[in-house]
Amino acid sequence: MSPSTSALILVSAVLLLSSATTSAFNVTLILEKYPDYTEFNNLLSKTGVADEINRRNTITILALSNGRFGDISSKKEDVQKRIISTHVVLDYYDVAKLKQYNTSKGPLTTLCQTYGQAKQQQGFLNVVVKDSEVFLSSAVKGASMDSKVESSVASQPYNISILSISSPIIAPGIDGALSPASAKQPNAAAPAGSEGPAVAEGPKQEEAAAGPEGEGTSAADGSSELSPNANSAAVKQAMSGFGLIAAVASLVAGF
Ligand SMILES: *[C@@H]1O[C@H](CO)[C@@H](O)[C@H](O)[C@H]1NC(C)=O
Ligand SMILES: *[C@@H]1O[C@H](CO)[C@@H](O)[C@H](O)[C@H]1NC(C)=O
Ligand SMILES: *[C@@H]1O[C@H](CO)[C@@H](O)[C@H](O)[C@H]1NC(C)=O
Repeated sequence: MSPSTSALILVSAVLLLSSATTSAFNVTLILEKYPDYTEFNNLLSKTGVADEINRRNTITILALSNGRFGDISSKKEDVQKRIISTHVVLDYYDVAKLKQYNTSKGPLTTLCQTYGQAKQQQGFLNVVVKDSEVFLSSAVKGASMDSKVESSVASQPYNISILSISSPIIAPGIDGALSPASAKQPNAAAPAGSEGPAVAEGPKQEEAAAGPEGEGTSAADGSSELSPNANSAAVKQAMSGFGLIAAVASLVAGF
């Protein structure tokens, strides 16, 4: 192989690997096409949750049409963020998949759980299917089960699914004032202990087993923004597709 050929291979290997880290979608742009969701879209951007969504590969957004978020804009910004992030599930669900879902498999993990601030089961949602309608609620004990999944707004299988729901899901205590001192650093992964993650451990693992690609559950570690599974999957794909990495390595060694 000529040096120019191997240089070309090296360049394409680098391009392949770097493309693995770019966004699969831009939720802001997707929702801009739906005027009924402008308020929700603005909230996603304002709270920074949109950016966190765009850094993931496998996600479900529980969207509320204009006017359905009630008085959320009067709440403090960190409370708004926790509430909005409870509407972001770290896996891909369409209506059909939710209908098959059985709560006995464990709750759905939301983005809120990754902040390490959620108490008890605030970062998780339960699903109940009744008369072939899907209802969602906070997994906190005693939460009301009145948010109905209405329809699919948009989807890019199996990366992003946007579902319309009838009312906001407000976890009990989610707007309790967390003083800065008691609030954990966002990056501190919820350790076993004080805030009930021992309970959380089970659902996460089950989620991973239940997920279509076993992905999107990097929620569990909280500290990692990009799903490590997604990256390693992409790397594996690149390697198996081309056998490039080994080839490049031996070429470089040969220079
Ligand atoms: C979509 O998700 C799959 C895994 O569910 C991932 O491998 C793929 O890279 C994602 N697509 C894009 C464009 O990121
Ligand atoms: C998504 O689109 C919005 C609106 O055009 C833009 O401001 C934002 O930078 C985009 N985000 C990414 C990750 O490309
Ligand atoms: C859900 O699980 C429960 C308990 O394991 C079982 O009794 C029920 O039939 C299941 N429902 C569906 C829809 O699979």
